[in-house]
Amino acid sequence: MDKILLIGQHGQVTTYLQRALVGDYHVEVAGRAQLDLSNVDAISGALEASKPSLIINPAAYTAVDLAEQEQEAAFTINRDAVAAIAKYCANTNTPLIHFSTDYVFAGDANTPYLETDSPAPTGVYGQSKLEGEQAIIASGAPAIILRTAWVYSNHGKNFYKTMLALAQTRDQLSVVADQVGAPTYAGSIADATKILAEAILSRGGLMPAQVGIYHFCCQGQTSWCDFARAIFVENEVSKIRVTGITTDEYPTPAKRPAYSVMNVDKLTATFGVSLPHWGTALAHCAAETKAG
Ligand SMILES: NC(=O)c1ccc[n+]([C@@H]2O[C@H](COP(=O)([O-])OP(=O)(O)OC[C@H]3O[C@@H](n4cnc5c(N)ncnc54)[C@H](OP(=O)(O)O)[C@@H]3O)[C@@H](O)[C@H]2O)c1
Repeated sequence: MDKILLIGQHGQVTTYLQRALVGDYHVEVAGRAQLDLSNVDAISGALEASKPSLIINPAAYTAVDLAEQEQEAAFTINRDAVAAIAKYCANTNTPLIHFSTDYVFAGDANTPYLETDSPAPTGVYGQSKLEGEQAIIASGAPAIILRTAWVYSNHGKNFYKTMLALAQTRDQLSVVADQVGAPTYAGSIADATKILAEAILSRGGLMPAQVGIYHFCCQGQTSWCDFARAIFVENEVSKIRVTGITTDEYPTPAKRPAYSVMNVDKLTATFGVSLPHWGTALAHCAAETKAG
């Protein structure tokens, strides 16, 4: 049975990937205890000991605001550790599925970003993720880099759970209305990633033409404010009133892209895979919430 090495244990995407893959594949889950990405020198030895058929890496330094202070930690995990993983993959011809972010873009576009558009991150997190992408490409590893966005789920810390928690104690919320993107359910990410993993493993690797960057998020677009409203509708929370505010009224240490909608056509054209519309995925997440 093919062995998949899944890096990261308790994060959103890795949690849903474990649910999707375990049982159908031999999945080795490498949490921090097995593979600490801040210890870059230990990475190649750990991968050589594992010898997986495929590596999936959703692990990352994801604290967008804290990264402005903890630059070294962000670059170590999101760039240097990724470079070490990619070097192993290049040397051993091991396929790699790596996750990146819409925050590689400046957010000043007004049509969905293509994979060929120039990145220009506005913060440390986005810059560190971009340099991780660049390290993979420079290594020549047989890799696909999946740029996802606005990830939420019933697990971990995310906007969806924050909204539902606030609704327990508040009847009014002010939410940013001038940032537009594609909320993406971690369950949708896991389902689509599983199809990619199946395709890669069934043909023993990636074809050279498949290697590269893909935009990998739910379809459609919305603002945080309208996403919050939709979360409350799907979860039948009617008592709360959501008011739109501007980014300037909700300052954060790291600047977010105002517009980070990504065109996902390349993913569909290359692999025949797409994630659902964000509203459809939200309904799935809410059904999971209600099921407990
Ligand atoms: N969240 C978003 O909105 C968003 C948006 C766009 C792109 N992305 C990208 O999507 C991917 C998955 O995001 P996510 O939301 O699932 O992230 P998450 O919930 O914050 O999980 C991050 C994962 O990285 C692991 N990790 C962090 N530091 C580590 C270290 N030093 N050694 C080993 N593992 C370490 C964590 O391990 P522990 O479980 O031990 O903490 C956790 O499993 C990431 O590449 C992220 O950059 C996320």
